[in-house]
Amino acid sequence: MKVDEHRTSVSASAPGKVIICGEHYVVHGSHAVAAAINKRAKVKVSTADGRSSTISSRGVNVSLDSPDRSFYSIKSIAKKIFSEHGKPRAGVKIAIDSDIPAGSGLGSSAAVSVATAAALIGFVGARVEPAKIVEAATCGEKEVHGNPSGIDIQASLNGGMILFNKNSGAKPVPLDRSLQFLVVYSGRQRKTSELVDKVRRMRDRYPRFFERLTEASSFLSLEVVEAVSSGDLPYLGAIMNMMQSSLSWIGVSNRMLDNLIEDVLSEDVYGAKITGAGGGGSIIALPKPEKGSAVLKRIALRNKVSFLCTIPQRGLRMEEA
Ligand code: PMV
Repeated sequence: MKVDEHRTSVSASAPGKVIICGEHYVVHGSHAVAAAINKRAKVKVSTADGRSSTISSRGVNVSLDSPDRSFYSIKSIAKKIFSEHGKPRAGVKIAIDSDIPAGSGLGSSAAVSVATAAALIGFVGARVEPAKIVEAATCGEKEVHGNPSGIDIQASLNGGMILFNKNSGAKPVPLDRSLQFLVVYSGRQRKTSELVDKVRRMRDRYPRFFERLTEASSFLSLEVVEAVSSGDLPYLGAIMNMMQSSLSWIGVSNRMLDNLIEDVLSEDVYGAKITGAGGGGSIIALPKPEKGSAVLKRIALRNKVSFLCTIPQRGLRMEEA
């Protein structure tokens, strides 16, 4: 993608994601499966009237040059891109408009990082290439998550469904037919880095057991790919339930999430689990064929943020500015 060097405004949008199998274990070398969802972050980068540069989101406006931690991921992405390609002489406005709830385990920060990186790279007149986007977005994600596996960025960038491993990267999972998941946000925000640290402590305490769980997570992620390609939804649901037990064992579920999952499992679904870091955030469930809308209707009575998501969804998109 080559963007006209003289544009005064560039926009990009990128989706959030769900992790279907392998979260946390992916940090320790397991395969994992993730998919882009139908909620997106849009970022518009444009020339400001004066010389000062700003970031705005949901009515909050901060200076791009202020040293405080607000929007630190965006600041570090901008710093990286400007240091490589030169800072525009005029001020720059970075406007974020996202419909992905923050801290919900739905990949909000990665989607904002990917869209920001792509829009800024286009804005400075450089080629908008996947490797450059990943490099810049990772720089932003490290500010938020410490040492992310990279799965969120790859799911957001590529769209569709991916099989991911932090050593071998992302491979698209071919989908012959679309899949529908129910997503329910628990309403509780949490910090991914704290949960990743908690899991690391668990690994240090039970290293051999943890290693076996990581191998099982890898195996089950490959089985998810099989189940998806053969259309074996009951098996996919069974894998999700199995993974939920494993995630619960390593300490990232809690009473509230267990209750939410139990409630959803009483409906017409094949399986349900935490998606992402846990501790709060969101859960996903796999409804039985044709049952998604009815399940959502009942679940939505008890949960404010719940929606159906059809997979595949598009990844990064350059938008009309
Ligand atoms: O972005 P979250 O909160 O959905 O979690 C990302 C998934 C983890 O495996 C917990 C962390 C990682 O870097 O892969």
